[in-house]
Amino acid sequence: MKFYIKTFGCQMNFNDSERIKGILKSLGYEQARSYEEADIILLNTCTIREKPDQKVYSHLGEYKKVKEKNPKAIIGVCGCLAQRMGAELVNKAPVIDLMFSSFNIHQLPQLIQQAQAGYKAIAILEEPPEDEDKLWEYPTVRDNQYCAYVTVMKGCDKNCTYCVVPKTRGRQRSRSLQSILSEVKALVEDGVKEIHLLGQNVTAWGQDIGMHFADLLYEVAQVEGVQRIRFTTGHPKDMDERIAKAMGEIPTVCPHVHLPFQAGSNRILALMDRGYTKEEYLEKIQMLREYKKGITFSTDVIVGFPTETEEDFEHTLDLLEKVRFEQVFSFKFSPRPGTPAYSMEGQVPDDVKTQRMARLLNLQKKILSEIAKEYEGTIQEVLLESYENGKLVGRTLTNRWATLQGPEELLGKTVLVRVEKANPYNLECSLVSVLS
Ligand code: SAH
Ligand code: SF4
Ligand code: F3S
Repeated sequence: MKFYIKTFGCQMNFNDSERIKGILKSLGYEQARSYEEADIILLNTCTIREKPDQKVYSHLGEYKKVKEKNPKAIIGVCGCLAQRMGAELVNKAPVIDLMFSSFNIHQLPQLIQQAQAGYKAIAILEEPPEDEDKLWEYPTVRDNQYCAYVTVMKGCDKNCTYCVVPKTRGRQRSRSLQSILSEVKALVEDGVKEIHLLGQNVTAWGQDIGMHFADLLYEVAQVEGVQRIRFTTGHPKDMDERIAKAMGEIPTVCPHVHLPFQAGSNRILALMDRGYTKEEYLEKIQMLREYKKGITFSTDVIVGFPTETEEDFEHTLDLLEKVRFEQVFSFKFSPRPGTPAYSMEGQVPDDVKTQRMARLLNLQKKILSEIAKEYEGTIQEVLLESYENGKLVGRTLTNRWATLQGPEELLGKTVLVRVEKANPYNLECSLVSVLS
């Protein structure tokens, strides 16, 4: 029996898919090379913007054909669109045999049995069930041998007015320290060098269990064999001095933070209910720079939030110039049903969003080419994580992709490299020495 999973969305969804693969392997399934040969096809969906919603329907249309050849094949949908739409999704796409969400991934074995018996196995819950922590008993199946994601928190307690995540993933539930550490230990024993802690709001970890994210950083750093620690996504409101201090004190925490600011205008930030001002955001950046030498930043931005004026938008551009992010993920505002911003007055026309987006991308391109120049000739530490087209590929501590010539045996090693040529998205490097 074979499975095929297609994943959309964020790293949390990606890590959920890794866990689903672990469950399916434990049931005796093997990974199929393509959906055509699979006995169970799963779509792990995202609904953050309208675009990913649409992709799901076109994929389901494709998968329908598999049933013509293999009538026993099971087609399942999970993830955030499944949670948001529930049974309505099955009405729209009757080809679906099985459905669950991030609340009840651990129930997959029973759901598969139900579907195999010929029933529609639809289990969309209002609230996460009490036994949801059973999920952590399953290992993940990873493609990357050396860098691993570890989900440390589910859900989100913020209420940004544009966002569906609190609805699709529920309220914040921090995973226990003990459960996290035992997964980290198992991963290190399996050869993992870099641990990437995940949560929609990872810097709020612990708030619901009487702990603080800084404690988690110190604890993970204590696990022998952990060479690098990263985390995603940080929220400016929770990014406090304790975290900055921990980052500074722990050498294995990488000098890079993904810290979405979403908008530069204080008026728009208030409408978004983000809980900080532009000035406060800049103070956090400054604080992190003081505690963590050489730190770099990436961010998310929304363009064209309801009522955004030219002047508001210029504050967004100004923030890009002030912080000089290494990476900017920018999105046109997409009104999501059920969120307050969906029905706000003053929706921005699409052509205005498109024009502003183009200006933002242009500015960021310029900044990026300047940043790239600063890398040229420098020595960087790179963890080599894959071998592609005859080249070793890895990331610098500051989260830039680097490629270099060298033997495949160096995979999994941390090396020092010299940056020969810096392209906006890739540093072409030469080997200086092997560290470990
Ligand atoms: N928890 C993260 C965000 C997760 S969603 C945080 O608070 O930073 C990833 C990104 O999608 C967001 O940062 C935001 O930039 C974008 N996004 C979320 N909802 C959106 C919407 N309705 N329209 C456009 N972009 C959106
Ligand atoms: Fe959405 Fe805001 Fe929570 Fe991020 S912090 S997941 S944007 S509600
Ligand atoms: Fe998408 Fe859900 Fe992640 S909506 S961005 S998959 S939390």
